[in-house]
Formats: sequence, structure tokens, C-alpha cells
Amino acid sequence: MNRKKLIAANWKMYKTPTQAEAFVGTFLPQVYGHTRDEIVLCPPYVCIPTVAELVRDTNVGVGAQNMFWEKEGAYTGEISPAMLLAVGCSHVILGHSERRQYFGETDDMVNRRLKAALAAGLTAIVCIGEVLQEREAGITDDVLRRQCENALREISGDQVSRFTIAYEPVWAIGTGKTATPQIAADAHRVIRQQAALALGDDAAQKLRILYGGSIKPENVKALMSQEEIDGGLVGGASLDPASFAAIVKW
Ligand code: PGA
Repeated sequence: MNRKKLIAANWKMYKTPTQAEAFVGTFLPQVYGHTRDEIVLCPPYVCIPTVAELVRDTNVGVGAQNMFWEKEGAYTGEISPAMLLAVGCSHVILGHSERRQYFGETDDMVNRRLKAALAAGLTAIVCIGEVLQEREAGITDDVLRRQCENALREISGDQVSRFTIAYEPVWAIGTGKTATPQIAADAHRVIRQQAALALGDDAAQKLRILYGGSIKPENVKALMSQEEIDGGLVGGASLDPASFAAIVKW
């Protein structure tokens, strides 16, 4: 199955609009004409209009790092799917482990966000992954199956082109510890099996499963060469334009 890889930058809570503008100015020429992989930048909300304007009609898309599932209302501090579309987003990251860890995000909330994102026409990057204690306790596969099953509740196979799952082992995020290509590929196979139960075999074969966790220019090729790995979600190493361009061009 030939799945086009998606390489997404997760800037987390880094960069002002001015800094984002400087990044894009340097980054765009470096990836000009790169069509082998899909490229998406996910800046903080306040940078989205600036970045979207600068990458308009290029091979680079823009995503947000979260969104609420309601259309509008008295939800102080929240951002709706329609608001993201209005400022030029095509993608949105959902259920990142930092949101699960620091902001009480649950599997059920991730599922609600996913349904809302798909209904609005956004492409979602749904994050799942085990923490270190779960890996050490030998329950990684169970955790991934549970997170995947819950995230994909009431999602159908014909929506599979509109979302990806990002496997991000929490112990590898921002720690400099990367999962070996073998560990990542094994986890991806478990996720694909679980996705097949929710979406059907054909759709599960089409599902793109990204890897995330300490991807760098030095390790990206070994990871992306794995047939099971359909792209990457890059945090720290996406903040520098030369570094992220090198990752995109693995
Ligand atoms: P990292 O972050 O590349 O800095 O490990 C990845 C992520 O959290 O998406």
C-alpha cells in the first residue's frame, strides 16, 4: 500500500507571530517543490493567520494544536473548528500527550474532538502513546489498543483519508530518546490491527500512522524508511527552519 507520508511540525508553545514569519521566510525556499511528502506546520493559535497567509498556494499546510468540539458558545478560552478553518487551517492535532498529561484530556474528549474536526472538514492528527511505566509493565499494546479503540468510536472507514494517527511514545517526547525503528514499526502494526476492527481492513490499510518523539535530522531516515511509518510529528527539531527542512527532505 502506497501511503503518502505526512511530516508535521508541532511548535507547541513556542514562537510569536514575528518569529513564525521569520521561520517561514527561511523554511519555504528550502522545501520549494517538495511533493514526495505532505508538509504541515502547527504553530500556536496566535501565529496561525500569519503562517497561513505566508504559505498560501504553496506545498505547505497549516494546522492547529488543539480545538474544542462545540461550534460556538460560552466556552472561555476555547477555539472552534470553524474558527480554525476561517484562519486557513487544514489540519489539527488532537489528544497530544501533553494535553492528556497537563490538561486532563481523556480518550472520550479526543473522540469528541475527532468527530467535530471531521464534521467540519479538518484533517486530524490523533495522538496516542504509552508512558514509560506502561512500557515497563509490558502493557504497551493494551494501552495503544484502548486509546485507538476509544478515539475511533463512531468513526467510519470512508473517513480514513481525513485523519492520521500519530504514535508518540510519551517517554520519547522531548527526551532525546527515540523509539528504535523496530519499536515504532511494532507499535504501528498493533495500531493498524486495532484500526481494522473499527474501520475495516481496506480503510485500515489506507490509514496513515505517523511516528513522533525526538525525531531529528540524524534519525529521521531510519524511521521513515520503515514501511509501517507513514510520516512524523516533530516537536523540538521543527523549531529551526534548517533542521525541519532537513527532516522533511529525509
Ligand atoms: P519532540 O516532540 O519531537 O520534541 O520529541 C514531538 C511531539 O510532542 O509531537
